[in-house]
Amino acid sequence: MRFRISRPSSPSAPLPREESPIPAPAAAAPPAAEAPLSDHEIALIRASVAVVEPLAQEMTVYFYAILFARYPEVRPMFPPGMDAQRGRLLRALLRIVDLVDDTEGLVRFCGHLGRDHRKFGTLAAHFPAVGECLLAALARYAGPAWNQDIAAAWTKAYGAIAQVMISAAEEDEAVRPAVWPATVVHRLSRGHGIAEITVRPHIPYEYAAGQYVSVETPWWPKQWRYYSPANAPREDGTLTFHVRAVPGGTVSDALVHRAAVGDVLHLGAPMGDMVLDAAVHSDLLCVAGGTGLAPIRALIEEVARRGGRHQVDLFLGARTGAELYGVDDMLRMAQRHHWLTLRGAVSHEHVPGIRGSLPQVLAEYGPWYQHDVFLSGPASMVVSATETLTLHGTLPDHIHHDPFETPVLSAR
Ligand SMILES: Cc1cc2nc3c(=O)[nH]c(=O)nc-3n(C[C@H](O)[C@H](O)[C@H](O)COP(=O)(O)OP(=O)(O)OC[C@H]3O[C@@H](n4cnc5c(N)ncnc54)[C@H](O)[C@@H]3O)c2cc1C
Ligand code: HEM
Repeated sequence: MRFRISRPSSPSAPLPREESPIPAPAAAAPPAAEAPLSDHEIALIRASVAVVEPLAQEMTVYFYAILFARYPEVRPMFPPGMDAQRGRLLRALLRIVDLVDDTEGLVRFCGHLGRDHRKFGTLAAHFPAVGECLLAALARYAGPAWNQDIAAAWTKAYGAIAQVMISAAEEDEAVRPAVWPATVVHRLSRGHGIAEITVRPHIPYEYAAGQYVSVETPWWPKQWRYYSPANAPREDGTLTFHVRAVPGGTVSDALVHRAAVGDVLHLGAPMGDMVLDAAVHSDLLCVAGGTGLAPIRALIEEVARRGGRHQVDLFLGARTGAELYGVDDMLRMAQRHHWLTLRGAVSHEHVPGIRGSLPQVLAEYGPWYQHDVFLSGPASMVVSATETLTLHGTLPDHIHHDPFETPVLSAR
């Protein structure tokens, strides 16, 4: 075992607590002593997870129920509907259990998680409350398999995790805000349920072309969703998002159909590694489907900003010609920049010159193994394009794409 607890994270002011229906295990605040988890403790934690995993859903529901009953002051931090979050907390814990004997991976993952929690308003003082309820939930669902040794191992592990999250958040706090308010300054409907929304952050917002941003709207408070700026950083500091209203979507629908000039959104810190500096080759292959074009467009602007020192082959994919998004804009860019070549791929319609699915078209125009590849669009497109490219010799390390969902859980 390889991680250490460096200090306790006791609350600065005790949180009020209702009587718990279940006796909670020993307080989950991390112990003061620096002590690594032993192999035996790691084995105990893993064994207890194996016991509760089949009951994960009920356990998480129970965890939130007691958290909100015992510590009602944290409830307003969470969205009214908690379904998605329930699954995410559990997946984070499973990931942590997987990483428990990999110090570097664990610190990186929990560091991301800690920084990401700043936008929720999470404070060091909240961690003991969450730890206490987490242990109570584990104890209840592990049943007879639970004992003092397992409780002690979990207390120690949770303390270490909390410590990394808190330290990462504190370090982040020293250098940047948790949230950037940003006023909508322009809104343009692009048809097919897509809108371009330009915002001006009230304070400077630094990001790199190709990164994505979590966004909270006034209509769905606490519901954070990710959107990728479609532009490289501008002198006037504005960012333009391309948002598609998904069927039944909450935040996307509000952004596409309700957002108006003057509305104020909140932006979280930028995230993502799909940036130009990640490329090792000078030739780039960019592949985009739908609003996945946004970060690719930003990357192309960034190439232009840096003087066009890359050769860029851009493929836009869609099911039908009418669904091909952003072609005119990209054609204009290709006319301005000799280093940019644009091709389309349409899978479900016969369009002369651009027929075929993206993987077929990519295979036809390859090879691409001396290119860095940037992929953005629906998960199915990214997966099939990746398969085709790796089959034809592109190294996985040279294929860059965003996580498909809940980025903080996919952070490497
Ligand atoms: C890294 C990253 C970058 C992203 N960049 C962009 C971007 O630039 N532009 C953009 O428009 N979106 C982008 N998204 C998707 C965006 O974050 C939201 O998931 C999407 O807008 C739906 O949010 P919602 O609140 O409207 O839907 P929710 O209320 O969360 O979901 C409602 C229903 O829609 C379904 N659903 C959710 N997302 C999708 C989807 N993408 N397609 C089809 N059905 C869906 C859900 O399963 C659910 O049934 C990005 C996502 C990630 C992870
Ligand atoms: C080990 C400790 C913790 C873990 C593993 C954890 C894990 C997670 C994960 C994975 C998410 C989803 C993040 C995303 O969608 O970007 C999340 C969201 C959240 N967490 Fe935590 N968390 C922990 C501690 C805390 C604490 C102490 C608080 C404060 C009360 C807290 C409050 C929240 C809130 C408010 C959200 C947003 C909910 C939502 O969007 O649905 N978390 N947490």
